[in-house]
Amino acid sequence: MRPSRTPSTFLLAFTLLAALLGLGRPLSCEVCRGSGPTCSGKMKTCEAGKDACVAIVGESSTKGHHSVNSYKACMKFSDCYSGFVSTTMGPKDYMVSNTHCCQSDGCNRGSVPPPENNRTENGLQCPACIVPFQETCPGTQAARCVGPETHCIYFAGRVQAGIINTRFATRGCATESACNTKPGAEVPSASYLYFLRRADCLPAPQPPGRGE
Ligand SMILES: *[C@@H]1O[C@H](CO)[C@@H](O)[C@H](O)[C@H]1NC(C)=O
Repeated sequence: MRPSRTPSTFLLAFTLLAALLGLGRPLSCEVCRGSGPTCSGKMKTCEAGKDACVAIVGESSTKGHHSVNSYKACMKFSDCYSGFVSTTMGPKDYMVSNTHCCQSDGCNRGSVPPPENNRTENGLQCPACIVPFQETCPGTQAARCVGPETHCIYFAGRVQAGIINTRFATRGCATESACNTKPGAEVPSASYLYFLRRADCLPAPQPPGRGE
């Protein structure tokens, strides 16, 4: 048997080439937003530069108001982190989420497993604040990190919630996975769309009397 160029080899080569060159039809993704662990909506063609489909399920508490939300859309693959993220700004202000990013038509249909929400304090602390309408935040309070949160974040920029688009700044605890977020990224959560101008992420300081 000689190594023949079968039609499927051609197809594979062509698909790879087309993918590399960004040829072909634009991607289409399911688009929806809703409360609850999943949502379903129409398939839409992605605008230029959005080369991934994303599905997010998030559980959050804002001033003690607890909610579970889901979101599906097109986004830029290089801004998309697949996996678990946990952030805590205070005992009543936190968010955990699971995100799935993929790059074929309709690949964000179906549901993403809901994120674990381990609220057990792990002994680490970070400067914390949440400030709307401004892009800086003093961090004079301290957030107690929970579960797998080992890093301190300082994120700021603009946030879009429905038709409202405003400045925001926030500091607190996060999982190391939050460090994948880079300034300039357009990053959705289950509830909001963030345009980040600042995305600092550092290991949380060791509490006194431990380690070293
Ligand atoms: C929850 O987080 C704590 C603190 O990091 C850890 O000790 C514990 O094992 C975690 N529990 C689960 C079920 O992952």
